[in-house]
Amino acid sequence: MENSNNQPKKVVYSGIQPTGIITIGNYIGAIDNWLKLQNDYNSLFGIADLHALTVRQNPAEFRARAMSFFAQYLAVGIDPQKAIIYFQSHVKEHTELSWILNCYTYVGEMTRMTQFKDKSQKNADNINMGLLDYPVLMAADILLYQTDLVPVGVDQKQHLEIARDIANRFNNAYSPTFVVPEPYIAKQGAKVFSLQDPTAKMSKSDPDPNASVAIIEDPDSIMRKFKRAVTDCETVVEIRDDKPGIVNLLTIMSAMTGESMESLAAEYHDTGYARFKQAVGESVVEKLRPIREEYNRLMQDKAYLMSVAKEGAEKASYLARKTVAKVKRKIGLVELK
Ligand code: TYM
Repeated sequence: MENSNNQPKKVVYSGIQPTGIITIGNYIGAIDNWLKLQNDYNSLFGIADLHALTVRQNPAEFRARAMSFFAQYLAVGIDPQKAIIYFQSHVKEHTELSWILNCYTYVGEMTRMTQFKDKSQKNADNINMGLLDYPVLMAADILLYQTDLVPVGVDQKQHLEIARDIANRFNNAYSPTFVVPEPYIAKQGAKVFSLQDPTAKMSKSDPDPNASVAIIEDPDSIMRKFKRAVTDCETVVEIRDDKPGIVNLLTIMSAMTGESMESLAAEYHDTGYARFKQAVGESVVEKLRPIREEYNRLMQDKAYLMSVAKEGAEKASYLARKTVAKVKRKIGLVELK
């Protein structure tokens, strides 16, 4: 596909692990940018289900959650006419390339990864090889499609750097094979914080339900969580480093309304926190309402969801096969003719 300048369109790739819930953090840090980029790029958005296997999953719940996430991709407005939407596990080249890239990645690079250290602490009884190898599978996801741009939140930056290192290492050892991907991290909203601890990232799998908000959450529950959001003991709404709770709420409201944080801070400066929190909650409810409605509709139509998944897997496989064939040739594996 080409853009209006007759240049081949650049490629965007991103994904979400089907664990926990899709939060407004995922929406603001990643999905919002996917929606913008899908218009001008050849985009692929995967459900990173193989990544989710690094922690134990209940099979029935896992299957249902993966389908639910897929429906949420569509409900937010990712358009299967514009972007390839698929399940990572439906394209076997992800694991195939991952094995090959393993042989170009050093153990020391993996043990240094912040997420590996964090997750090893949290899952001390299950520090499996997948957890260590996670960034290599993610590099394979990205490099398979000759990706130019990877829209993610700031927590994925280190993984992106490793993907770039692996691509460069491979390209230097053979000849240019992979496009070296660039991260796309927005200036605002790249890290949305917990509503209960505004110094910690809002996490999809936070055990405290008041800490995060799902993009398909019902309005009452959303309002309740914003009313309870932890702020500080002042009363003015201002953008200041010592007011992380207020800054987080402003970030969220700005993403929901499209208004700048500065103008919102000016508008709510003296209204008091109760009114401000109410307004933030309402902005989230309004933004998410059509998403929740569309999600509920889509979940009634499993046949449609499956048809989109099937088409996505076919399109992604076609592209992935080309890269894997090229890689195999370069490293000297015998081709079957
Ligand atoms: P995951 O599933 O943890 O998160 C999905 C996306 O949401 C972003 N994000 C946030 N952004 C802002 N504020 C937050 N509180 C917040 N929490 C999460 C993440 O940065 C991410 O962009 N390994 C990836 C999934 C993945 C992937 C890929 C991403 C697999 N393969 C290839 C890009 C390219 C992950 O676990 O994201």
